Amino acid sequence: MRVGVLTGGGDCPGLNAVIRAIVRKAERHYGDTVVGFLDGWRGVLEGEFIELDVERMRGTLPRGGTVLGTSRFSPRMYEDGMERVRSTMENTGTEALIVIGGEGTLSAGVGVGEAGAANVVGVPKTIDNDIGLTELTFGFDTAVEVATAAIDRLHTTAESHDRVMVVEVMGRHVGHIATWAGIAGGATLTLVPEEPFDINAVAETIVRRHERGRWASIVVVAEGAQPKEGTLELPEPEVDQYGHVRLGGIGQVVATEIEARTGFDTRVTVLGHIQRGGTPSALDRVLCSWYGIAAIDAVHDGDWGSMVAFQGGEMVRVRLADAVVELKPVSPALYDVARTFFA
Ligand code: F6P
Repeated sequence: MRVGVLTGGGDCPGLNAVIRAIVRKAERHYGDTVVGFLDGWRGVLEGEFIELDVERMRGTLPRGGTVLGTSRFSPRMYEDGMERVRSTMENTGTEALIVIGGEGTLSAGVGVGEAGAANVVGVPKTIDNDIGLTELTFGFDTAVEVATAAIDRLHTTAESHDRVMVVEVMGRHVGHIATWAGIAGGATLTLVPEEPFDINAVAETIVRRHERGRWASIVVVAEGAQPKEGTLELPEPEVDQYGHVRLGGIGQVVATEIEARTGFDTRVTVLGHIQRGGTPSALDRVLCSWYGIAAIDAVHDGDWGSMVAFQGGEMVRVRLADAVVELKPVSPALYDVARTFFA
């Protein structure tokens, strides 16, 4: 069989580990050939690909990024997008397409599958951990590790200077990274999109903490955190060429407001793409290897329109269309764990 693979959307630690696992089982177990489409859907739409084999993937397990490149291109950007996908599949003799991506890339995969343009199997990728029907997307664990290590470092400098440190982490619609890193790093407060915040209450909490003799505070803010209606104006976010809202900046707003309301010296650290680059954690390497193997097995079962998913410690398959219906929010019970340690 000739199997295609693409990596789309924002990159994420572990993409190469997934590709490597697909290639290994495809070549050595099933006797397949594997082609990698370049830059996500762009490579499929424009017929650009490379041949992948076990040799090509050697040494890539710990490497961040993706050997295939990635982009936010989508078949929906072209009037004849579905036709282009269909003809690339035909011209290259590709019988199945493993789509590794987040919500945007996977939703495009649903459209492609429903149009009958390619036989699609999905793999859930994103540091944000916001894909439905899977307990863990790969890349998330690494991002939490990076954010937690940063918070640990910020604690000591915050204590030396009696400062409030605001740490902005990724998480555009959901606050999984913020919540996990906030708990792991012992945050004073964690602000997530799921729970709109009141900046006055944030400031009061910090003042109360300082009155109890604690002079350093860490406030973790997910980039998509939202103030309660009517409490604080945020600047209009920019939109990129794919219509993707470019977030970032809430940390600075929160820091400025805390300092203005409390008078405490406040600094902001934006972790940004540091959370996405570099080597995957051991957990992510294992998860990625499992995801890749499960995806090529799904291909050989002809389970088109499925997504491999991690549930209850096992790799299962769900319908890709069901997984992208809505983003997975942080469990209120887990946020309550974080809240218990606030202030
Ligand atoms: O979707 C994953 C993510 O890491 C978001 O949390 C973040 O808003 C976005 O990617 C930023 O992506 P880029 O800078 O590549 O547009």
